[in-house]
Amino acid sequence: MKPRVYVTRKLPDDVIERLAQTCHVRMWESEEEAVPRDVFIEELKAADGALTMLTEQIDRSVLEAAPNLRVISQMAVGYNNIDLATATARKVAVVNTPGVLTETTADLTFALLMAVARRIPEAERFVKEGKWKTWAPLLLTGADVHGATLGILGLGRIGEAVAKRARGFDMTVHYYSRTRKPDVEEKLGVQYRSFDEVIATSDFLCVLMPYTKETYQLIGREAFAKMKPSCRLINTGRGEIVDEEALYDALVQGEIAGAGLDVFTEEPISTDHPLLQLPQVVALPHIGSASVATRMTMAHMAVDHLVAALQGKAPKAQLNPEVLTS
Ligand code: DGY
Repeated sequence: MKPRVYVTRKLPDDVIERLAQTCHVRMWESEEEAVPRDVFIEELKAADGALTMLTEQIDRSVLEAAPNLRVISQMAVGYNNIDLATATARKVAVVNTPGVLTETTADLTFALLMAVARRIPEAERFVKEGKWKTWAPLLLTGADVHGATLGILGLGRIGEAVAKRARGFDMTVHYYSRTRKPDVEEKLGVQYRSFDEVIATSDFLCVLMPYTKETYQLIGREAFAKMKPSCRLINTGRGEIVDEEALYDALVQGEIAGAGLDVFTEEPISTDHPLLQLPQVVALPHIGSASVATRMTMAHMAVDHLVAALQGKAPKAQLNPEVLTS
């Protein structure tokens, strides 16, 4: 009998057709709306595998309600929504889609950095709202990106790809990461600094570390107080790493100059959130990896990983390899 799998978001037909060759597939039929938690729990009761998005909270109670579940294949590199320890204890293999979204997310990070630096969304609104009367010497002036100092917090794959882009802009790049990366330092000419040094000397500060207990609200009041008033914060990692109330205060009080945010503590962020009222904030709806090609690659990879793990083969990106190897 084919294993039963539940897919938590409508995916393109060719992706689902591939999955259906080896699995009995049930799917939440909306592309835009996340599956409600009670529906998800109900569907998991009979499922052997799940293909999930980062919008599902897969905590202990969800896992305990899924007696047959053997594999969770998540279409994302981040997996902070999954209780990995409980999944491992219950012998549920957890797999993600690393690598394939690195360059696309680095592109978006850089685009956001440039949008904040040169006030592109503000300038576009200015034109479309008919406010443009004449060329003016200081009209919508922003900050130079070329030659500026870029701080990268978290030099993983995406951080490294951002550093590579920064070289083309003659930026000085320094980073703070859990693990020092001498090979990347040598290859890209980036410099390792303490967390405090990076935040205190950057013109642009990119938050690219994973969200863990240790990084929760790591960028808070104390950190903002150390930043340069001209610093612009770019977050394409996870919203929870930045204390959003402290960020708002830092922006309003001029402790920093701007922010580009692709991720938020609550997603979607409410339109009346104070941060969205500030012109120096550029906000995007978590689209770091959203190129057509990359999202399709992620979807197919999530299928490949799900099928492989259900067949007892260890997929390359398993987050708890001990489950399938034991
Ligand atoms: C991820 O993969 O974790 C991103 O946040 C979405 O692509």
